Amino acid sequence: MRNLPEIRDAKPSDAKAMIAYQKRIYENAQHMVTAVDEFGVGVWRQRFWIARKATSKLERCLVATHDGHIVAMLDSWTDRRRRVAHSTSFAMSVAEGWRCKGLGKKLLSHFIVWVQKHPTLERIELHVHADNTHAIELYTQLGFTLEGTRKNAVRYEDGRIVDDHIMALWPGKLNKAI
Ligand SMILES: CC(C)(COP(=O)(O)OP(=O)(O)OC[C@H]1O[C@@H](n2cnc3c(N)ncnc32)[C@H](O)[C@@H]1OP(=O)(O)O)[C@@H](O)C(=O)NCCC(=O)NCCS
Repeated sequence: MRNLPEIRDAKPSDAKAMIAYQKRIYENAQHMVTAVDEFGVGVWRQRFWIARKATSKLERCLVATHDGHIVAMLDSWTDRRRRVAHSTSFAMSVAEGWRCKGLGKKLLSHFIVWVQKHPTLERIELHVHADNTHAIELYTQLGFTLEGTRKNAVRYEDGRIVDDHIMALWPGKLNKAI
C-alpha cells in the first residue's frame, strides 16, 4: 500500500510543480472554469502568488504531496473590505489518480478546521457547476448547503449549458463555549 499524502502550505519552491499540476487539472477536469489554454502563469508569477498566500493571515494555499509530487491543491481568497471580510472562498482539486480515495475530504476538512480556529473568518463559500455531482456530494457531506444558483452560467465547449451553484458553510468556532 502506498503511504498517504502529506497536507501542508505551499512554498514558493513549489511553483514549477504547481504549474505542471494545474495544467494537468485544467486539461482533464471538465468542471473547472479555466481552460488549459487560458492558463499562462509563469514560474516567477506563481512564486510570488504562493509567497503572498504564505504570508497572508486571511488566505491559504494548501497542497497535498506524495513522493515529492503535488497530488491535490486547495487555495482560498478573502475580500478585505470590512463588510464582507468574515467570508472566505476557495477552489480545490485532486489529481486524477488520487480521486475517490478520501483525499479531497481530508484536504477540505483541514481547511475548515483552520477557519474554525481563525479569529475573524466565519463563513466559507464556494462555486460548483451543477453537473459536478462528485464535488457536490463532498461539499454536502462536510455540511455545505446550497445558497443560490446562477442560471445557465457555464457553457461547455460541446454546447452544454449548466447552472453554477453557490454553496456555503458556517463552521462555527472550535473554542466557542456552547
Ligand atoms: C471534486 C474532487 C475535489 C473530490 O475529491 P476526492 O478526493 O475525489 O473526494 P473524496 O474521495 O474525498 O470523496 C468525498 C466524497 O465524495 C463522494 N464521492 C466519492 N467518489 C464519488 C464519485 N465517483 N461520484 C460521486 N460521489 C463520490 C463520496 O460521498 C465521498 O465520501 P465517502 O467516500 O466518505 O462517502 C475531485 O474529484 C476533483 O478534483 N475533481 C476535479 C476538479 C473539480 O471538480 N474540483 C471541484 C470544483 S468545484
